[in-house]
Amino acid sequence: MIYRSLLRPILFRLPAETAHGLALASLSFSSTLTKKLAGDRYRRSPFGKLRRFGLTFDNPVGLAAGFDKDGVALSSLAGLGFGFIEAGTVTYHPQSGNKRPRLFRLPLDKALINRAGFNNQGAADFVKRVSLNKPDCVLGVSIGKSKTVDLENAVDDYLKSFELVYPVADYIAVNVSSPNTARLRELQQADQLDALLQALQTLNDKLAMKSGRSALLPLLVKLSPDLETDELAEIVQVAQRHQVAGLIATNTTTKRAGLRTNANKVAALGDGGLSGAPLRPQAAKAIATLYNLTRGTLPIIGVGGIFDANDAWELIAAGASLIQVYTGFIYEGPSIAKDINEGLRRIISREGFVSFDEAVGCRAAEYANKSS
Ligand SMILES: Cc1cc2nc3c(=O)[nH]c(=O)nc-3n(C[C@H](O)[C@H](O)[C@H](O)COP(=O)(O)O)c2cc1C
Repeated sequence: MIYRSLLRPILFRLPAETAHGLALASLSFSSTLTKKLAGDRYRRSPFGKLRRFGLTFDNPVGLAAGFDKDGVALSSLAGLGFGFIEAGTVTYHPQSGNKRPRLFRLPLDKALINRAGFNNQGAADFVKRVSLNKPDCVLGVSIGKSKTVDLENAVDDYLKSFELVYPVADYIAVNVSSPNTARLRELQQADQLDALLQALQTLNDKLAMKSGRSALLPLLVKLSPDLETDELAEIVQVAQRHQVAGLIATNTTTKRAGLRTNANKVAALGDGGLSGAPLRPQAAKAIATLYNLTRGTLPIIGVGGIFDANDAWELIAAGASLIQVYTGFIYEGPSIAKDINEGLRRIISREGFVSFDEAVGCRAAEYANKSS
């Protein structure tokens, strides 16, 4: 409440990336404070602990990739009640990303447009920082392709990042869906994805033997919302062939349809991925399609346009068994994880389900057939 009436108006007067930097810097100094503010029950799930791909989650609400790319504020963010955090996307080579400005708010649409371009200090730097300061929740690490590496050499580049982040990650997310790195999304094509996942899982297996792990580290793939059903079907086959632990749906969209913000104004902002409320129907449809294609056997992390518990419920009913927020966190503030968890408890019992897991995918058929 204080956030929306007091802090947000101040932050929203600043350029979007300046506000983000300020928020992240304050968080990086205040890990004990966030926990104190939230109280000792800060992360308790209303549904008990959730088991997903071999990991135990305190609650189903996560922070999506891209918010803390370099892992500078993970403990504070965990203190805000997130059940998990996906840090990164990191690349093997440190890189500065696209020219600023590259992040824009569309308040009328509760949306953002960004073309950050994987600005990060590199996977090695990330690991040094995070190994000294692991958050006390599940930590996913998202890896992407370095800008200076051609698509033809992408597999090797991903392998190098994978090996570096392996010791600090509870799961690794392969980002092949950001629209802000040239040609990256071509890696979602079945033959390219097949080669990438084959190489990553071979390394995963080798590292498991070396470190004495009894199983592969969960490897997830993050997908674009702009894929057609037949493309999703091919991806599911490839993912299953390589024992992928789960899918993350979705990244930002390059579409601009149905926005309230003046079309000329939107066009003037230029290229980038759109996130926030307008993305939710597209994300719900992708999630439901994936849920149906896998008959609910592959966990899906639902992300796109979640601002409150009703939005989260939409993606859970479509088939997501965990959810993430990014744009909603910017608009709604630090209590978003707690608020969504409390709201979900009410919704799920109102809908007559006895457990969280029973509710997952209950409306997948409906959402898969909706036009987004
Ligand atoms: C500024 C910004 C940066 C992002 N950076 C990344 C990233 O590095 N890696 C990634 O997988 N997704 C990234 N995303 C996408 C989000 O993780 C998420 O998939 C998307 O924004 C949809 O969720 P939302 O509507 O809750 O924001 C970024 C999103 C924004 C707004």
